[in-house]
Amino acid sequence: MSNNQTKDIKSSVQHQFGQVAANYSTSTVHAQGIDLKEMVKIAHLTGAERVLDVGCGTGHTALNFAPHVAQVIAVDFTEGMLAQGRLLASERNLANIEFRQGDAEKLNFADGEFDVVVSRYSAHHWPHPQNALREFRRVLRPGGQFILSDVVSFDDFTADTFVQALELLRDPSHVRDHTTTQWLSMLAAANFQAEVAFTWDVQLEFNAWVVRMATPTLNVNMIKTLFDGAPQEVRTALQVAPDYSFAVQGALFHSVRG
Ligand SMILES: C[S@@+](CC[C@H](N)C(=O)[O-])C[C@H]1O[C@@H](n2cnc3c(N)ncnc32)[C@H](O)[C@@H]1O
Repeated sequence: MSNNQTKDIKSSVQHQFGQVAANYSTSTVHAQGIDLKEMVKIAHLTGAERVLDVGCGTGHTALNFAPHVAQVIAVDFTEGMLAQGRLLASERNLANIEFRQGDAEKLNFADGEFDVVVSRYSAHHWPHPQNALREFRRVLRPGGQFILSDVVSFDDFTADTFVQALELLRDPSHVRDHTTTQWLSMLAAANFQAEVAFTWDVQLEFNAWVVRMATPTLNVNMIKTLFDGAPQEVRTALQVAPDYSFAVQGALFHSVRG
């Protein structure tokens, strides 16, 4: 991919999330997802950890880790999302989170600075996740943990194509929901010992899903048309309801820096 295209995807992320930042502070999927407490549980925290949250958005993951660790540095590409995160942290009197602007694929931290790196619902926006994984390994101390939570796509080719199409119509800054197999292979290539720690169905209420991202009406109608014409096996895999609400798969990967 050329550098120009890369810049376009990253400006698209900033444009998309900059205009809807407040929606992500209150989104049920983001503020209350069942993966949040699983992420904290599988980290087996002692309270002394320094944690980096990458693609922190409005900070829900950082806010959940902060009471259990010494410090959280929360990084995101989009200033508007960071501003919402700072507000939530101050409302909750959490003084051990610092929000900073930054790019997952080129981190501004020294080698081995962190005990734990976490990232939730952001990796599907990264054009080069392999570069991000290389960076996480670099900033983690030996034996440090990387905990990734994201939507994963289907191994089935037809369902996979539909998921990527729906996501892209809803949000032009979407790059790809990787499959579990693809993530495990990328994590192994980056020298992480990784396993799938938890999986769940991410239930998406259709109207809230498109309103949250300010999806244009034309695209909303195209998504509905795609659902209407989808093969039955795709409709079953995505649990499509009469109001177009549906479910995708979520996966939580626990990795140790090799
Ligand atoms: C859905 S939000 C994150 C949700 C949040 N982690 C949570 O737990 O609620 C996705 C975020 O990824 C950020 N993002 C996308 N690409 C990024 C990159 N290359 N580096 C840093 N942040 C990025 C976007 O700005 C956006 O705020």
